[in-house]
Amino acid sequence: ASLTGLNTFGFDVVADQLVSITDTEQLAQLMRQLEVDPQPLLVLGGGSNLVLSRRIPGVVARMAIRRWESRTEGDEVLLWVGAGEGWHETVERTLQQGWYGLENLALIPGTVGAAPVQNIGAYGVELKDCLNRVEVYDRQEQRLRLLEAEACNFAYRDSLFKSGEPGRYIITAVEFRLSTKAQVKSGYAALRAELEGQDDPAPEQVFAAVCRVRQRKLPAPERLGNAGSFFKNPVISTAQCHRLREQEPDLVFYPDPSGGCKLAAGWLIDRCGLKGYRQGAVGTYPEQALVLVNWGGGDRAAIEGLAGYIQQQVKRRFDVELEPEPRFYP
Ligand code: EPU
Repeated sequence: ASLTGLNTFGFDVVADQLVSITDTEQLAQLMRQLEVDPQPLLVLGGGSNLVLSRRIPGVVARMAIRRWESRTEGDEVLLWVGAGEGWHETVERTLQQGWYGLENLALIPGTVGAAPVQNIGAYGVELKDCLNRVEVYDRQEQRLRLLEAEACNFAYRDSLFKSGEPGRYIITAVEFRLSTKAQVKSGYAALRAELEGQDDPAPEQVFAAVCRVRQRKLPAPERLGNAGSFFKNPVISTAQCHRLREQEPDLVFYPDPSGGCKLAAGWLIDRCGLKGYRQGAVGTYPEQALVLVNWGGGDRAAIEGLAGYIQQQVKRRFDVELEPEPRFYP
C-alpha cells in the first residue's frame, strides 16, 4: 500500500501492510494478533512528524478512531476526542462551542492522537496546559487504560509516549479540560505583534491571528512537503549563552524553566546563511529556516543529508547541537 499521501513530507513510501483502526476493540484484536505473530508496528496519525524510509516493513495502523463526548462542570468542560480526529478541526469545533483553551494551537497539522506524543505547542501554549487524561491501549498489560496528565511526563516536545516508554502505549483518545471563560494568552512576541491594536482580544481573534502568522511562516503540507519545525529549539547553559551574546549581539534566546537559555534554532540556521538553502530535492523554507521542505522527489536520505549539513554548520559556528524533532522510521 502507498503511504505517499499519508506522510506530510510527501515521500514515496510503500508499506507492506496498511490497516485502518476505527475502534478500540479492533485495535485490541490487532494487538493480540501481533502477540502471536510479531511484526514491526507503526501507528500512523497525520504523518506530520515522520521521516519515513521508502519501504515500511510489518504493519502500519492508521488511527481513525472517532469520538466526541463532553460534560460540563461549572465553567469547566471535559471533552473526550477520538485519536483519529483532525487536530485543527478539533480546535475549530471547540471554539464554535465557546470552549476555550486550544485557540493558540490552531492550524497544527496532524491528529488528536498524535498530539500528546510530542506535547505539541505553539504561540505560548502547549497541549499539556489543556489536557486532563489520555486513553491508551497498553501493549504491556494488553488492556485499555486511562493515564492522568501527570503520568504522561510532558515536557517541551516530549512525553512518556515519545522518550519514556516508546511503543508501549497506543493513544486512542484524549480528554481535554477547556473553559467556557476565555483565558487568553497573547504574550508570545509574534502573536502580540499580529494582534497589534486589538487590546483584550477574544479567543476567536487569537485563533485568527495564529492562523495568519502560521500561513505566512509555515508551508501548508498539501502545497509543499514538510514536517513543521525540523529541530527542537536547543537549551544551553547561561554561561554559554553569555559567551554567544558577545559573539552575536542580536542572538534570539528565552529563559528556560531548567535555568538555562533556550535558543531559536531557526535564527541559528538563518545566521549560518542557510535560510532558503537548497540541496537537490530538499531545502530550508525561505520564510522559516527551521522548516525543511521537499521541493519534489526528495526522500529520507536527502533529508538526512541536509539535516546533517545544517547540524554541522550550526555546531561549527555556535558550538550548539541541534536535535531533530520528527521521528525517523524504521
Ligand atoms: N527566526 C529567524 N530566522 C528564521 C526563523 C526564525 O531569525 O529563519 C527567529 C524569529 O525571528 C524569532 C525566533 O527565531 O525571533 C523564533 O521564531 P518563531 O517565532 O517562528 O518560532 P520557532 O522558535 O522557530 C517554535 C516552534 C513552532 C511553533 C512556533 C510558535 C519549535 C521547535 N518550534 O518555532 O512549532 O509554531 O515556535 O510558537 O519549538 C513545530 O514544532 O513543528 C512548530 C512549527
